[in-house]
Amino acid sequence: MTKILVATDKPFAKIAVDGIGKEIENAGYELALLEKYTEKQQLLDAVADVDALIVRSDIIDSEVIAAAKNLKIVVRAGAGFDNIDLDAATAAGVCVMNTPGQNSNAVAELVFGLLVYAVRNFFNGSSGTELKDKRLGIHAYGNVGRNVARIARGFGMEIYAYDPFIKAEDIEKEGVKAVGSVEELYAVCNVVSLHIPATAETKNSINYQLLNRLPKGGILVNTARKEVINEQEMIDFLTERTDCKYITDIMPANHAQMQEKFADRYFSTPKKMGAQTAEANINAGIAAAQQIVDFLKNGNQKFRVNK
Ligand code: 3PG
Repeated sequence: MTKILVATDKPFAKIAVDGIGKEIENAGYELALLEKYTEKQQLLDAVADVDALIVRSDIIDSEVIAAAKNLKIVVRAGAGFDNIDLDAATAAGVCVMNTPGQNSNAVAELVFGLLVYAVRNFFNGSSGTELKDKRLGIHAYGNVGRNVARIARGFGMEIYAYDPFIKAEDIEKEGVKAVGSVEELYAVCNVVSLHIPATAETKNSINYQLLNRLPKGGILVNTARKEVINEQEMIDFLTERTDCKYITDIMPANHAQMQEKFADRYFSTPKKMGAQTAEANINAGIAAAQQIVDFLKNGNQKFRVNK
């Protein structure tokens, strides 16, 4: 029987797993579940006989692909697919897909949870500031960026965005000011929210030179990827710019050092929480199951990300 494995180090909500199970069962396939695994070997063993795989940020490298002899498709239930070795998958004839947009509202809502926490001085009892009338810069105007803009309107923020892949007129149609360069975005905005993927071009791109353009009291909020931050330069920046804050949903490699040095201006969630809602799990998990069924039964490759 065709077997589909859901392998999630950080599990979906039960209601989402039940929904995924129904999709798979209705298609006449078998569901296997590997959650909260602690050793890579558990993943290598679990993939040995599966036809399809649903994952989140789980690392699917060439070793995992090689161990999955029957694998035809991997769906990353979420947006970023930097955790999957696309070349190894392509070489093995495995289709890789993501589920764009399905968890983006959850991530966007967390941006504001983190921002309110930051501007109210981490709820330490002192007088903070408000988001209303402040300038918000959205760094990359994709699915999450758009949701961030929608919510920011409710807060009464002035919204700016930079995205070299989207026409300025398409951004401006939504009442968002499109700026012409990333440098301008950081220079103009009180708060910048990061939504760029981790690619060869973007890794380490958020550096001292860019961060130092932030105006007095600037805040960077990162719900994207830790790899896009040049961590040493972030430390240099926060050391020098004692007026600025960094809040992130992706714990930096230097978390302990940063927490000690910048306790009142730096915060990281202990585990990435952006997409961790029942709704996002249901949306992304069920979309992943449906995409697998449509691929295996009809050959639909609409969301394929490897060529
Ligand atoms: C994504 O790329 O979809 C988000 O970063 C969420 O990742 P997660 O599913 O590992 O929480």
